[in-house]
Amino acid sequence: LEEAKKIVIKDDASLPAAKKIPLGEKIDLEPAPRVQVVGRVTRQAKQSKLLFITLRDGTGYMQCLLAGDLANTYHAQTLTLETSIMIKGQLRAVEKGKTAPMNRELQADYFEIIGKAPGGDDAITNRVPPAGAENAQARLDMRHLAMRDEEISNVLYVRQAVEHAFSTKYWDLDFVKVSPPALVQTQVEGGSTLFEFDYYNEKAYLTQSSQLYLETAIPSFGNVYCIEKSFRAEKSLTRRHLSEYTHIEGELDFITFDDLLTHLEDLMCGVLEIVLAHPRTAAMIKKLNPDFTMPVRPFKRMKYTDAIDWLNAHDIKNENDQPHAFGDDIAEAAERRMTDILNVPIFLTHFPTEIKAFYMQKDPTDPRVTESVDCLMPGVGEIIGGSMRMDDYAELMEAYQKNGIPSEPYYWYTDLRRYGTSPHGGYGLGLERFLAWLCKQHTVRDTCLFPRYMGRCKP
Ligand code: 4AD
Repeated sequence: LEEAKKIVIKDDASLPAAKKIPLGEKIDLEPAPRVQVVGRVTRQAKQSKLLFITLRDGTGYMQCLLAGDLANTYHAQTLTLETSIMIKGQLRAVEKGKTAPMNRELQADYFEIIGKAPGGDDAITNRVPPAGAENAQARLDMRHLAMRDEEISNVLYVRQAVEHAFSTKYWDLDFVKVSPPALVQTQVEGGSTLFEFDYYNEKAYLTQSSQLYLETAIPSFGNVYCIEKSFRAEKSLTRRHLSEYTHIEGELDFITFDDLLTHLEDLMCGVLEIVLAHPRTAAMIKKLNPDFTMPVRPFKRMKYTDAIDWLNAHDIKNENDQPHAFGDDIAEAAERRMTDILNVPIFLTHFPTEIKAFYMQKDPTDPRVTESVDCLMPGVGEIIGGSMRMDDYAELMEAYQKNGIPSEPYYWYTDLRRYGTSPHGGYGLGLERFLAWLCKQHTVRDTCLFPRYMGRCKP
C-alpha cells in the first residue's frame, strides 16, 4: 500500500470534456462518449489487475472499470462498499455475452473519492444483518442503511409511483384533493385504537381516518379525496398492522352503494394501468412479483352472510374455535385463508350493524346489515374499508347514543345531515397493504420508509 500511495492520477485536460449524467440516463454510445458520474459503491469485484465497481445513485446502476494505474492507487486498493465517488471515463457497450446494467460499462480514466465509508467491523455488510425472519428486528434498527438494498428501494420506488398514480387517476376522475387535520377531537373507528394526547389542556387524538372531514367537503367540491397519515394504537403485532400508515380516502356524493363498488374497481384498475405503463416501475414490479396479473373486472362480490356459510363449509373456525355465526367478526386468519383459497380480489359486503362503525348506512332491504364493503386481496386480506354513510339526522343521533359517543364534539358532522343531506359514501385504502399485495411483500412493515408499530418508534 505504501507503493500505491505514491501513484498520482490526473484528470487529463487533453481528453474531451466529460458530460455529467445520472447513472440511469440513456445516452448514445456511438461514438463512445466521455461522461462524469457520481454515486455510491454497491458492489465491487477484483479480477487480476482490474477493479469492477457497480455504482448506484437512485436513478440506476452503472458498472465501472478501473484498470492500470487507476486500479493500483491507494484509494482503489482500499475501496469500501458505500463509499461515494466521482468517476470520469468512456461509456461503452459491454461485449456480447457479458452482462452489466443497461449493457454498458464506464471505462474510467479518472476518479475522486467524495466520502469514504468504513470497512472492517464497521463495514455496511457487518452493520446490516442479512435478510431473513430472524434478523427482521435488527434490520429495522438499521433501516437507514438497509434501505440502500435494491429490493427495499424498489418497493419504496413503487410506493411513490403508486401514490402518484392515485393522484393522476383522481385528477382524471375530477376528484378534488383536500387536506384534513391530523389532530382531532373525534373518533371514527372506535375508541380502542385512539392515540390520545394533551392539546393545550384539552383532550385530543391523532386522526384514525379523515373520513368525517371528507364528508364536510363534498357539499363544496363534490367528490373529494385525500392522501394523509392515519394513526391507530393497534395493540397487536401482525404483519398488516401499523401505528402510522398512509391512508388514501375518497368520498363520493349522490351515489348508490353499487356506484361505490364500481368506482373502487375503476380506481384500482386505473391506478394499476398507470403504474404498469411506466417502464421503470413495471420492471420493478415484475422483479418483486413475477406472477402479478391485472385483476379482472367486475371483482367477485360476496355478502357477509355468504362468507359465513363459505367459512363453515370449509371448516374454518372463528376466534373461539367455533363455527362462524352471524354477528362474528371475521378474524384476520380466517379472512386471509378464504381470500387465498378464492385467490381473486373480493368485495365482501353487507356486514352486520353491530360489528361496524356508528356512521354506516343500513341496508334498506335488511336493517340487520350495513351498506359496507371490505376489499380483500390474496396474500394480504383487507386493503380497503368503505361504506355508504348514514344520511338521516335522527338516525345519526340515535347511532351516537347506541355507540356511547357523546354527540357534542360531532356537531359539525351532524350539521351535514341538517344542511342539505345526500346519499353519499366513501372508503379508505391502506397504501402499505396495497403495496404488500402489489409487490408481494410479507409484511406492511417492508412497504414504508420507517415503519411504526407497537414497540417501534425508531429510527
Ligand atoms: O377499515 P378502516 O378502519 O376504515 C376507515 O378508517 C374508514 N373511516 C375509511 C373511510 O371510509 N374513509 O380502514 C381502512 C383501511 C383498511 O382497509 C386498511 O387497508 C387500512 O385502512 N388500515 C391499516 N393499515 C395499516 N395498519 C393499520 N393499523 C390499519 N388500519 C386500517
